[in-house]
Amino acid sequence: MNNLISIEEVDRDGIEAILDRAESFAEVGRRDIKKVPTLRGRTVVTLFYESSTRTSSSFELAAKRLSADLVSVKSAGSSVDKGESLKDTVATLTAYDPAAIVIRHPYAGAAQMVAGWTGAAVVNAGDGKHEHPSQALLDVYTLRRRLGALDGKKIWIVGDVLHSRVARSNLIAFQLMGAEVTLCGPPTLIPRGIEELGCNVTHSLDGIEEADVVYVLRMQFERMEGKFVPSLREYAANYQVDTRLLGPRQLLMHPGPVNRGVEISGEAIDSPQSLVTEQVAAGLVVRMAILYELLAGKPERPTALGEGPAAEAAAPTIGQPA
Ligand code: CP
Repeated sequence: MNNLISIEEVDRDGIEAILDRAESFAEVGRRDIKKVPTLRGRTVVTLFYESSTRTSSSFELAAKRLSADLVSVKSAGSSVDKGESLKDTVATLTAYDPAAIVIRHPYAGAAQMVAGWTGAAVVNAGDGKHEHPSQALLDVYTLRRRLGALDGKKIWIVGDVLHSRVARSNLIAFQLMGAEVTLCGPPTLIPRGIEELGCNVTHSLDGIEEADVVYVLRMQFERMEGKFVPSLREYAANYQVDTRLLGPRQLLMHPGPVNRGVEISGEAIDSPQSLVTEQVAAGLVVRMAILYELLAGKPERPTALGEGPAAEAAAPTIGQPA
């Protein structure tokens, strides 16, 4: 694995290997000195063009726990505010010879484009509504610890699937690990034809009692143009997950941030069935494992690609920004 742009780049054995590695890093986290020297002398850049609490903090801490030098850039307050392009920003940061660049950007395809402009390993920390592969890995890790193998497990993903990069990556990962996935939400918030990926689709919470896992998504207002539901009150009345819906054996997940009282009740998110805090903790060790998988034991790559054949070989293969 040279980059992590899409969860589709990782097969089932590859996912299991990353999760096994993450288990070993969980043990490191219980030591007095929670650091390993694996990436000493290497540099990790995190470059975030969108808001983040969990993904940015966990990648930063993961790099530090692996003893890497960390450069953390948020577009707000950087020279992006002065009009610097993504390409020039990547070229600037590539001058520090980073081993990896972790990028979040509002445009689908941005991470793939960055991989064409730098020789550093690129990790997609969320590109528009396209993909969020490290979220999918940490969610599979969280469930594997609770349930063991996911084969035959029923997972319902409820909410704004249309605008969710988490839904896309998690659907692929959950199915790859053998789970049966049902997508639930209003017709306006479920991509047309998504059943072709092998999942079930429903527009009602009826039947949710069959789910082993209920995975709730927030409404992604920042990606919406126009109105997708008549009102939040009506949406909550039809799709809010609350404790009255959940049986005692069902597990509840949410990638965060949560809008309490909209897609999920406060009581549900604070209930013993909620894995939200476990998901956040998993984010640290899984992101350590991702950086390890990409960088450990591999020779440093020349990071400045310039305009030559290497740059052409690494050119984007997926769509331009949406
Ligand atoms: N789940 C997730 O990506 O959270 P942040 O936006 O806080 O990183």
